[in-house]
Amino acid sequence: MQVDTLFSPFTIKNHTLRNRIGVAPMTRISSRQHGIPRQDVLDFLVRRARNGAALVYTEAIVTDYESAQGYPNQSRLTTQRQIDAWKKVVDDIRKAGALSIAQIFHCGRVAWPEINPAGRIIAPSALAPRQDNMLTGSPYPVPEAMSRFDIEHVVHGFAETAKGAVQAGFDGVEIHGAHGYLVSQFLSPYSNLREDGYGGSVENRFRFAHEVIQAVAQVMPKDRLLIFRISDWGIVDMDVSLFENQADYQETIRLLSGEPIDAISVSTYDFKAAAFGMNQNMARITRAATSLPILICGRIHDRASADQALADADVVLSGKSILLNPNWVEDLRSGKAMPPHKSADADVAYTETPLP
Ligand code: PHB
Repeated sequence: MQVDTLFSPFTIKNHTLRNRIGVAPMTRISSRQHGIPRQDVLDFLVRRARNGAALVYTEAIVTDYESAQGYPNQSRLTTQRQIDAWKKVVDDIRKAGALSIAQIFHCGRVAWPEINPAGRIIAPSALAPRQDNMLTGSPYPVPEAMSRFDIEHVVHGFAETAKGAVQAGFDGVEIHGAHGYLVSQFLSPYSNLREDGYGGSVENRFRFAHEVIQAVAQVMPKDRLLIFRISDWGIVDMDVSLFENQADYQETIRLLSGEPIDAISVSTYDFKAAAFGMNQNMARITRAATSLPILICGRIHDRASADQALADADVVLSGKSILLNPNWVEDLRSGKAMPPHKSADADVAYTETPLP
C-alpha cells in the first residue's frame, strides 16, 4: 500500500501536526487600529484551520516601536489588547485541530521612510538596497549602521514580542530570518559589511541571529516550538543570491542546528529550482546540513507538487494557493487540478475585500 505522506501526521518536538500542510506567513497590512489585523483577516486564518490545515502562521509581526516596522499597518504583539485579540484566534485555531505559530520580524533597511514611530531605519551596514521601493516608487533610504546598543535593543524587541506570543497562547514562534529583512541582512555578505564581531566570517554574520534566537528561547516555555525561517532570496534585489555559495549557506544551517530551535522553514520562489548553481533544490541542500525538521514553500499548488516537495522536506507551506482557495487542503486530498497562481493574483490580500 502506498503511504499518503501528505496526509500523515508529523511530530515536531511535543506537537503533532495532523497532516503536512500549513498556511505560510502572509502579510496583510490591515492593522489600522491598535496594531491588530482587521477582523476578517483574523477570521481568514481560523477558517484555514477549520478547513484542514495542520499549521497556521500569522503574518509577520513587528518586534519593536523604534525601527522594526517597514510597511504601513503592520501588526504588533506587545500590548494586552493585542494579546487578547490574538488569543481568541489561537484558541479557535486550536479548537479546529491546528497549531498556531506567530512569525516575528524586523524590517531593517527594507523600510518605507517615516513608517517607524521613531523614524529610524537601521541595518547591519549603511548600505541601501539597489532597487527602488516598488510600492512607493522611491529609493530606499541609506540606513544607519547599528550600534551595539541598537543590537541589544532590537534583540530585546524580539524577546518582548515573543513574550506576547507566549501570553496569547501560540504553539510556537518563528523568527523571520529570511527575505532580506534584518536578521537575513546580518546573515548575508550582500548587506553585512561590518568589520566587528557581527560581520566577516559566516560565524560572525550568524552572531546576530544567535543572539536573537537565544533571547527568544529564554522567554519560551519548553512546550512551545521555536522555528527559524531562512531564504537565499530577498524581497528587494530579488536576483541576488544572499549566501555566497552552497558552503556558506550550509555552514549557516549547521550553526542554526546547534541553536535551541525545533525546525527550519526554507522559503523559495520555486521549491523545484536548483540552487547555488548545483543540481539540487534548497530543501535537499538544507537537508544535507541538518537533522531538524524542514518546512518548505514555493510554487506548491497541487497534489503532485506537494508530494514532490515532501521528497526533501517534512511540511509544505502555501501562500498564494491557500490564500485564494479556502478549500485548498480538501482539493489537494481529492487531487483536483489546480494551476499555480501569479504573484499579482495575490494582491487581493492587500485590499479591504474580505477573502473567503
Ligand atoms: C516577507 O516576509 O516577505 C514580508 C513580511 C512582511 C511584510 C511584507 C513581506 O510586510
